Amino acid sequence: ANPSLLILPGDGIGPEVMAEVRKVADWFGSQGLVFDIDEDLVGGAAYDAHGTPLTDATMEKAQAADAVLLGAVGGPKYDTLDFSVKPERGLLRLRKEMDLYANLRPAQCFDALADFSSLKTEVVSGLDIMIVRELTSGVYFGEPRGIVTEGNERVGINTQRYTESEIARVARSAFELARRRGNKVCSMEKANVMESGILWREVVQKVHDEEYPDIELSHMYADAGAMQLTRWPKQFDVIVTDNLFGDLLSDLAAMLTGSLGMLPSASLGAPMANGRPKALYEPVHGSAPDIAGQGKANPIACILSFAMALRYSFDRGDEAARLEKAVEAVLAKGLRTADLLGEEGRQPVSTSEMGDAIVAALAES
Ligand code: NAI
Ligand code: MG
Repeated sequence: ANPSLLILPGDGIGPEVMAEVRKVADWFGSQGLVFDIDEDLVGGAAYDAHGTPLTDATMEKAQAADAVLLGAVGGPKYDTLDFSVKPERGLLRLRKEMDLYANLRPAQCFDALADFSSLKTEVVSGLDIMIVRELTSGVYFGEPRGIVTEGNERVGINTQRYTESEIARVARSAFELARRRGNKVCSMEKANVMESGILWREVVQKVHDEEYPDIELSHMYADAGAMQLTRWPKQFDVIVTDNLFGDLLSDLAAMLTGSLGMLPSASLGAPMANGRPKALYEPVHGSAPDIAGQGKANPIACILSFAMALRYSFDRGDEAARLEKAVEAVLAKGLRTADLLGEEGRQPVSTSEMGDAIVAALAES
């Protein structure tokens, strides 16, 4: 059977950027790599059609697919809806029911955009690292939590809590990724001041020693990690960390390389029968209502999310690299959507012109 992909374009620029992914997928199809693609509604689009941001039928399709690719959800039209049917609830339901506990955020520098970074060109040039953030546990979910009154004042309480199995499974995700990349994992916590950090370090080391001794593992305190990420990020390959530190470090790492319109992501869960993890791929950006419907959106974040799906869900690392090289080639030629232009006064290309150029570069590669 062909690998199956469920595409959920969503709202705003979601359908616009997804149309460009379809062109790329169709091109791979013409080369013999055919996907069984199904497309469905999520977010505001699903609410408009069905009164819910994600139907049970769509949820079932997502559970059955080899991978899910999502555009973006939300928009001003839905801001006044009841919380229970807000567009983002569709996305949250997908993440929760698929139990996607490992959030992957790459920081990858395309040399043509190296001067777009706020860091020196030599610090980011050729950068290709991956942050793996634990997504379903930790201080954002731990109990007890709440605002309670003690004596004559209120106290805000959150609890950082990790079980051994929660740490072990995200560590495995990181080691598996490292095997497909540079064979190096750095685990970040604060074992110097946190009990959860002590356990984190111990469990990651144990999973390494017992299951992945071939991978180079190091440990770093998360605050030192933040410094090292801006000082010399190329020292890292895969970084694995908890929900809170990962939230901060992945945003920091993403901005090492530039624009929101360039950033892909993935959320992975437990391995399926085919050995590959449950997976949802999506650009980091939202539905960008300010530019929706104008052909201005940069499709590269979504196209690179598809490249991640090729590599991590479909075992097509060569094709993923080919697609990333096509993106690099198009950027090197000087093609820029409006978000990548800065003050240069160059003429921007449209969403579909960018997609067409990437397909053309693929065909030439
Ligand atoms: P946003 O990411 O949609 O937009 C932020 C800024 O970046 C805007 O100026 C936008 O035009 C620009 N931008 C974003 N993606 C771009 C692209 N591909 N090409 C060119 N420019 C791009 O974030 P914002 O404005 O905070 O949220 C807008 C809506 O999206 C809200 O309804 C929000 O809830 C939703 N949202 C959805 C997310 C998702 O589906 N995962 C994530 C973040 C926000
Ligand atoms: Mg964040």
